Amino acid sequence: MKIVMGSDHAGYELKEAIKEKLQNEGHEITDVGCYSTESVDYPKYGHAVGKAVASGETERGIAICGTGIGISIAANKVPGVRAGLVTSVWQAEMTKAHNDANVLCMGGRVVDKELAFEMVDAWMNTEFMGDKHLRRINELEDLDF
Ligand code: RB5
Repeated sequence: MKIVMGSDHAGYELKEAIKEKLQNEGHEITDVGCYSTESVDYPKYGHAVGKAVASGETERGIAICGTGIGISIAANKVPGVRAGLVTSVWQAEMTKAHNDANVLCMGGRVVDKELAFEMVDAWMNTEFMGDKHLRRINELEDLDF
């Protein structure tokens, strides 16, 4: 699968670890940066991840900053993106099953590598449930009730 990954400096090391794991599993990773632990601003990287997914260039995206919060806000600003910020395996599963999250976000200062890997696996291996959940994600595109 084609997956875009992006992080700021606080998510860099976790991004690299997840990138290696996914590449070893045969996935094609586009890395939009950052490329070191030198301090950078997260909006640009969240936006780049969101754009790659929304444009169809990649099927999914993973975005990581220190808390996961800033970069998830940035990714969610791109129309068509449903970025889910997760801290547990169950949330990772549910953000695919119920939200059809096309971007997974996490905090490099919040979760360790083992949990991060388990969350990525859960999100990758879960199917969107559709039905009422499809109605709800469609409502996200038209919030003028
Ligand atoms: C960087 O210090 C930190 O603010 C950033 O990684 C992120 O947590 C913002 O939401």
